[in-house]
Amino acid sequence: MIVMGIETSCDDTGVSLYSPKKGILSNVVSSQVKLHADWGGVYPDLAAREHTRNLIPVVDKALKEADVSLQEVDAVAATVAPGLIVSLVVGISSAKALSWSLKKPLVPVHHIESHIFAVFLQEEIEFPFLSLVVSGGHTELYIINGFENYIYLGGTLDDAVGEAYDKVARMLGLGYPGGPIIDKLAKEGKEVIKFPRPLLGDRGKNRFNFSFSGLKSAVLREVEKGIYRKGDIAHSFQEAVVDILVGKTVDAVKEFNIKRLVVSGGVSANSRLRERFTEESEKHGFNVYFPPLYLCTDNGAMVAYTGYRRLAETGTTVGFDFEGKARLRMDGFVEYIKEYKQKGAV
Ligand code: KG4
Ligand code: ZN
Repeated sequence: MIVMGIETSCDDTGVSLYSPKKGILSNVVSSQVKLHADWGGVYPDLAAREHTRNLIPVVDKALKEADVSLQEVDAVAATVAPGLIVSLVVGISSAKALSWSLKKPLVPVHHIESHIFAVFLQEEIEFPFLSLVVSGGHTELYIINGFENYIYLGGTLDDAVGEAYDKVARMLGLGYPGGPIIDKLAKEGKEVIKFPRPLLGDRGKNRFNFSFSGLKSAVLREVEKGIYRKGDIAHSFQEAVVDILVGKTVDAVKEFNIKRLVVSGGVSANSRLRERFTEESEKHGFNVYFPPLYLCTDNGAMVAYTGYRRLAETGTTVGFDFEGKARLRMDGFVEYIKEYKQKGAV
């Protein structure tokens, strides 16, 4: 069996072919980073236009690299929610056209779900596990009891953590995407400023929620004062971010007594975050798993794999009236796709 995975939820056009027997056959990502660099973030209309331009060439390249013909594809999986709707519809429409012409099933995939299950491309992890998803659009904590069995614990009340990285990088005039640049620059600095850690230590309703906008404003004030070096500001900002993410997640590990943690999404590539989680896991006796670096940021392989898994475990495919959604939490996704299944799938 070969599953094609299509990812267009934000600014990366990703297509991959996955075989349960042979693993990832190809994984092509066309990044729009240079285009969005001037803007300091993703400009939705531009992203959608670029997906339209790039998607078929990326499909073609993925097939060639895998040495697979289009007719050999057994199912087409696509990211259908959440994300920039103008970007999502490019991938969804193309996946529908491929599914319709090949007469092969159309499999919907949730973006967060695919970030989480990316780690399974490296190793199988026993359920239940805790999952922290940190990316440009999301900062969420879940308990994953099994495939399609997800419990939401909390998420960000304002900015996503990757967004905060990108905005701080912009304030410091460092370029886009800011995460990897700050990660590197922080190594040259020291924690000269103790930035606030919003909601860390909250024992009430925001126990597992996050907030980064206050931290971002505190960084802006320091940048405007112009006292400290960029490396020191980057370092101080990153220490605050990592303290918040690690502190809240370790609280969840203790509260639910779940000994496995998966950290995924673009920000899970962060070297300091990996270092701190590894230290904490040794201290508190749990196992922490990260996807390999090339599967942390958006890609088609995580979509192809999650699509395969959906087919294998629940067989949920959807009809051509299926609609993508800009906002949809992962715990509501299973119900959402079932509605379309009832309306009749291929
Ligand atoms: O998962 P992803 O590719 O796209 C979304 O679904 O949002 O994540 C992109 C985000 C960007 O905000 C980027 O700055 C951040 O991941 N990122 C990092 C690192 N590498 C990427 N943030 C911190 N440290 C990194 N090494
Ligand atoms: Zn993502």
